[in-house]
Amino acid sequence: MKSISDDLKEVDKIIREQLNSEVALVRTIGDYIVNSGGKRIRPSMVIIIALSLGYKGIKHHLLAAIIEFIHTATLLHDDVVDESELRRGLSSANSIFGNAASVLVGDYLYSKSFEMMVSTDSLRIMEILSKTTTIIAEGEVLQLMNIKDPDTSLESYMQIVQFKTAKLFEASAHVGAIIADASSDQENCASIYGRHIGTSFQLIDDILDYSGDSETLGKNIGDDLREGKPTLPLIRAMAVCSKKQRAVLREAVLSGDANLVEIVNIVNDTDALQYTSKLAENEAREAQKSILNYPCSKYKEILMELPFMFLNRIS
Ligand code: IPE
Ligand code: IPE
Ligand code: MG
Ligand code: MG
Repeated sequence: MKSISDDLKEVDKIIREQLNSEVALVRTIGDYIVNSGGKRIRPSMVIIIALSLGYKGIKHHLLAAIIEFIHTATLLHDDVVDESELRRGLSSANSIFGNAASVLVGDYLYSKSFEMMVSTDSLRIMEILSKTTTIIAEGEVLQLMNIKDPDTSLESYMQIVQFKTAKLFEASAHVGAIIADASSDQENCASIYGRHIGTSFQLIDDILDYSGDSETLGKNIGDDLREGKPTLPLIRAMAVCSKKQRAVLREAVLSGDANLVEIVNIVNDTDALQYTSKLAENEAREAQKSILNYPCSKYKEILMELPFMFLNRIS
């Protein structure tokens, strides 16, 4: 994002400084994952929310780096749990360095983020971010409990999305507002904005796992299915497809071993992707609505456009 590119450079500078561990393997893996890119969406949100509310200091850079560390830790752990081999267009850390090293460096990034949080001198920020990491962990465990369960409901799925993804978006927007000394109403609006945009983002990601291409995405397509992970495209397809197709989908989830092309054909035979995309669009609109009362600025305009930029990834 051009208008905050200098801010993001500062964030990356902090990230690099903070990765300076005495332990070589921590540095190697930390550098590997952080330098492999990543869209920096959550740190961008911290910055844009803070700037949209008139923030003039530099603490938003540190906060954004903290959020990216938390996010990166979740990715390191997530790729171990999901046995994913591709991340950010490169071999995932677990496939290069092994599961043990990935989990431990994920732990390191979490711990480092807490160390950095203390230097914000804000008990409220510490409270929000520590609650957030707890909820992300609960979300990942909740998802684990639903794996290979073809009866996973829309409600369970939405709860998983709220916990594992939307919560960190919510926290990113919320701490951005706090640092800008926003009113409690503006803080509230920021949280709601983050929650909706985060939900929309995960729904889109789940569509892309069926319809995207791994080159653009930097991740393997069909990973959700291979893991027996019933995401909304599959939940919806199971609800509306023919009896025969349903048997195939259920077996695919139960075994986690399916012919991706066959499953994608069934999913495409239903309205599942359009249905999921409609829900993502509703979430994007809710996000926009929540910040309508923010003061007019170029940053508010970005906040208004952002949810639909994400939606464009699937069109
Ligand atoms: C990946 O998030 C995890 C999900 C919530 C789907 P991003 O797509 O923001 O990951 P990076 O940081 O850009 O690689
Ligand atoms: C995203 O998990 C949320 C977290 C990393 C906590 P997913 O497993 O759905 O995301 P990808 O597809 O691996 O990025
Ligand atoms: Mg994953
Ligand atoms: Mg996962």
